[in-house]
Amino acid sequence: MKTYFFYILAVGFTAAACSKKTSQGGTTVQPPPVAVDTMLYKMMPFKMGASVNVNLMKTNASYNGVVTKEYNSITAENAMKFGALHPAQNTFFWTDADYLVDYALSNGKRVHGHTLNWYTSLPSWVTNFSGDSTAWEDLLKTHIQTVVTHFKGKVSSWDVVNEAFNDDGTLRNSIWVQHLGPDYIARCFQYARQADSAVLLFYNDYGHEYSSAKRTAIANMIANFKSRGIPIDGIGLQFHITYTQSDANISTAINMAAATGLKVHIAELDVRLNDAKDQGLVLTQTLADQQAAKYKYVVKAYNTIVPAAQQYGITTWNVGDADSWVPGWLKAPDYPLPFDRNYLRKPAYRAIIEGAK
Ligand code: XIL
Repeated sequence: MKTYFFYILAVGFTAAACSKKTSQGGTTVQPPPVAVDTMLYKMMPFKMGASVNVNLMKTNASYNGVVTKEYNSITAENAMKFGALHPAQNTFFWTDADYLVDYALSNGKRVHGHTLNWYTSLPSWVTNFSGDSTAWEDLLKTHIQTVVTHFKGKVSSWDVVNEAFNDDGTLRNSIWVQHLGPDYIARCFQYARQADSAVLLFYNDYGHEYSSAKRTAIANMIANFKSRGIPIDGIGLQFHITYTQSDANISTAINMAAATGLKVHIAELDVRLNDAKDQGLVLTQTLADQQAAKYKYVVKAYNTIVPAAQQYGITTWNVGDADSWVPGWLKAPDYPLPFDRNYLRKPAYRAIIEGAK
């Protein structure tokens, strides 16, 4: 294969010529020997995506450059969530999301929408909303259909419902369950389908890799939807994982998703290193290599287990380590992504390419 031939040639050249090291928290990590002009998505048999931050896209040329060069699918990290798009009952704010969609379409990238329904990131007008079940149903339907209609023909797919289950497999007692009952999930999918007959509809969640109860509950919901004719096209595995997650658990989660027969999206991949919450953690070569091995395993398992027709792609949750949500979430330094804070490639970058071979 032509690309591969040049890749081999360039690897030796780049490794010798490149003396720049990745700087992370005071230590250095060897950059992977990959040709500088490699474009990640061109090395992959399926779409390779990143979630993106609108502000960084607008203000940081390195960030924008990496997204443009390396990925062919994007997800808005926050700009399409309820609170961002629908800040007041009669006000929709499209500016940021439209900016991303216009950018993606003019650069030939797929847009995956995230997310129409979630228990959090809600504006106060929703959390304070008082109305009977008809008024709540109208609120839910209006939001979903206004958003899906606005992006019709531009957004390829939606995470229709995000994180509806608890880790023990029970339904999360969200504001939606409280006001609309457990079958609101099915109605979200129906409302989205009514607004756009072509857009792909996904159920997205986390924890399939560590909770058998949760992945079983999700598989049961999907089987139930199919038996009732509720439209659903895909399953999103977020895969916010730790580098110590076992390969067996990763395979089990991907197997379960593939067995649904739906399209499978690894939708929010990051591989964190610091569940011990060491406040002084630096990225050593050893840790970067262990992280790379886990990235490689995820890609390999996905590519091996999921039939090509079901491979919707892999999306990392943001681009560079400085942009990751993980340090804020776990309140400890971390380095979860394939690029460092200077947007230099880490060992994980090459591992993703190797995993797809
Ligand atoms: C996170 C974003 O990365 C943060 O910037 C934001 O403050 C909170 O949400 N699961 C999801 C994503 O489905 O929407 C979350 O994104 C991360 C966990």
